[in-house]
Amino acid sequence: MITHPAYMVEPWCLRETTLNLDVLSQSESVFALANGHVGWRGNLDEGEPHGLPGTYLNGVYEFRPLPYAEAGYGYPESGQTVIDVTNGKVVRLLVDDEPFDLRYGRLHRHERLLDFRTGLLHRTAEWTSPSGRGIRVRSTRLVSFTQRAVAAIAYEVEALDDEVRVVLQSELVANEQLPRAEGDPRAAAILESPLVPEDTAAHGTRIRLLHRTARSGLRVGVAAQHVVEGGERTAYTSESSDDLARVTVTSVLRPGQTLRLEKIVAHGWSAVRSAPAVRDQVDAALAAATSSGWQGLVDDQRGYLDDFWARADVEVDGDAEIQQAVRFALFHVLQAGARGEARALPAKGLTGPGYDGHCFWDTETFVLPVLTYTAPQAVEQALRWRYTTLPAAQERARQLGLRGSAFPWRTINGSECSGYWPAGTAAFHINGDIADAVVRYIRATDDEAFEKEVGLPLLVETARLWRSLGHHDHHGDFHIDGVTGPDEYSAISDDNLYTNLMAQHNLRAAAAVVERHPDLAAALGVDDEETADWRDAATRMSLPYNEELGVHEQSAGFTGHQLWDFTRTREDQYPLMMHFPYFDLYRKQVVKQADLVLAMCLRGEAFTPEQKARNFAYYEQLTVRDSSLSACGQAVMAAEVGHMRLAYDYLGEAAMMDLSDLEGNTRDGLHIASLAGTWFALVVGFGGMREVDGLVAFSPRLPEQMVRLAFNVQFRSRRLRVEIVDNEATYTLIEGECQDILHCGEKLTLTQGKPQSRPVETAEAGPAPEQPAGRAPAHRGRMVGHLEAEATHS
Ligand code: BGC
Repeated sequence: MITHPAYMVEPWCLRETTLNLDVLSQSESVFALANGHVGWRGNLDEGEPHGLPGTYLNGVYEFRPLPYAEAGYGYPESGQTVIDVTNGKVVRLLVDDEPFDLRYGRLHRHERLLDFRTGLLHRTAEWTSPSGRGIRVRSTRLVSFTQRAVAAIAYEVEALDDEVRVVLQSELVANEQLPRAEGDPRAAAILESPLVPEDTAAHGTRIRLLHRTARSGLRVGVAAQHVVEGGERTAYTSESSDDLARVTVTSVLRPGQTLRLEKIVAHGWSAVRSAPAVRDQVDAALAAATSSGWQGLVDDQRGYLDDFWARADVEVDGDAEIQQAVRFALFHVLQAGARGEARALPAKGLTGPGYDGHCFWDTETFVLPVLTYTAPQAVEQALRWRYTTLPAAQERARQLGLRGSAFPWRTINGSECSGYWPAGTAAFHINGDIADAVVRYIRATDDEAFEKEVGLPLLVETARLWRSLGHHDHHGDFHIDGVTGPDEYSAISDDNLYTNLMAQHNLRAAAAVVERHPDLAAALGVDDEETADWRDAATRMSLPYNEELGVHEQSAGFTGHQLWDFTRTREDQYPLMMHFPYFDLYRKQVVKQADLVLAMCLRGEAFTPEQKARNFAYYEQLTVRDSSLSACGQAVMAAEVGHMRLAYDYLGEAAMMDLSDLEGNTRDGLHIASLAGTWFALVVGFGGMREVDGLVAFSPRLPEQMVRLAFNVQFRSRRLRVEIVDNEATYTLIEGECQDILHCGEKLTLTQGKPQSRPVETAEAGPAPEQPAGRAPAHRGRMVGHLEAEATHS
């Protein structure tokens, strides 16, 4: 049984009942609040102690040098890194001359609770100062889903036993000091003092700071307004300087008396607007939020989330920990994308500086599928962002000697930031991943305006890339040579099967969309000859297969490579890339993360059931899961080929990635793709959800540890509910006109008020496949009732 050291297991919230300073940074990621535009790490209100302070605005970054020991043609000249912008979270408290600092005095109680239904982060602390003054602090925080520039805090301090003099300092802090990054290359390069002051103001309870980034030239503004409620002996002042604006409230509290401060914070930024315009932008956002008031923001947050959960909730009976984890995951996936509005969706969302705040294929392949069926407007915006970066991708393709567009492996502003070619630019599959997300979104929403304006150019440009990147051999077969697939332990290989299958899908989808919109396509210069070329390349796409072993090859020749010696690899030598040279990983059969197995999830129709079973078993024994993106794909395929126990264990790994800090780097931010993978494993894995010929299809099957699984999905303006219990699946149309679906290949026509049930098919699986020595996923126990507590917050 996996025990849970830090958090209580509850269905609708995450509760931490004691404060452990050793894992403060992890908890700051886990308790981060964001809306896709603004991100506040879960730092303590008083600013210190902290693991890693963090306030992020999506799209705000600074350039940083990318020095090369040996430079080469086409290497990106500079990188981009997310920066910590002005911190509006800070509310310091002085109790009779002593700072409220949890490292001193006596902490009797400390609880934090993130409520997935209200979107509020609550904190309660009871503390006695070193000189013996007892207080209770209660704070509640939100980052608004309905007003994207806005975050807010309600902070209360209560005197417990004696009269106390308290001082609250509510601050905006720019260029705050950050701890130095450690040696892990995945952690962000931290830039010191990235913000240049431009303007500052303090009037009454209202404060503002305006800054600009030195090199990227982005203007960043933040303003705060306060409402103070205290006794007669309460007074306030405000002041501001370059990097600090502050409202100071003083009061004397009798025992039982409370001082309350409501702080509403508005953030804004712009690459083009002048200082006065950005000033006015944050002032206006603040005016709107102040007119809603604290309670208005709280009510709107609940309304927004009620709507989200009605579309997205997943219910799990039989494993309380997974129930909590999937809601935690969905909440954070929503936070990453909800109000991104034509900006990138970074691998860590806005929860930390890991991976320099870059966006990868994680977004299109793992995160957007979840949002497509639960919050499609967020997908539209994320793909619109890709569309706005087309000029940079076209320019990159030209630089590489290619046609069409070459989207960056990692980026914030749309230009390539990867300085490591083999696992960067060579991972061309990102172009197919973007196309796949476009196709999925269009199919699930019928959004024709999007298809014409955004989908068509994205599909055309990526198809052009594939056509120019690949070539027909003298038999006419189409090959894409010298690319890196999802498995980063193989690089620059020929005919990576995943890449080729995604490219094939991309080429066909582009030809189909051109057919639907011939005039618009003609305006992009597409003619019949070009689409015929795409179709031909797709038809002749080479898909390497080893007849002797009866398995597909991850890439041409892969199965002929020497096997990695797992028996001589120690447990502490994982992740392998931190302990072995890449050249050795590259030339052996060892797989970092699901690659061919992921291809079988996304392009299932390209394989027979027998091929799936054999491929799965073959690649299981090579896959070490040195990436958090691996387990969910393995869960889906394990379920499909009938290894339900294994699928369940992989689900556990994806689900607990951050709650149990399985990779030891949750401090740098959450693994948003792995969180999304929790939904993936449950809905696509155990729900068996796929799209078949324009219909949404299910082949549900539960592991014996799970008693019931129910989920809602949105498809073509309909809301469906699927419930699997007692070997029966029930489909209900909750909203929208009648809808055809497939249950294990049988067509069912659903109408509202008439649920339909069908028996679940059982799986016949062969012997359980093996993983590399020591790399089997942790065996999940049955979690019924384990640490389960009643939810006390509604
Ligand atoms: C994985 C990539 C992933 C990146 C960001 C790497 O470790 O191998 O597939 O895109 O992390 O999550």
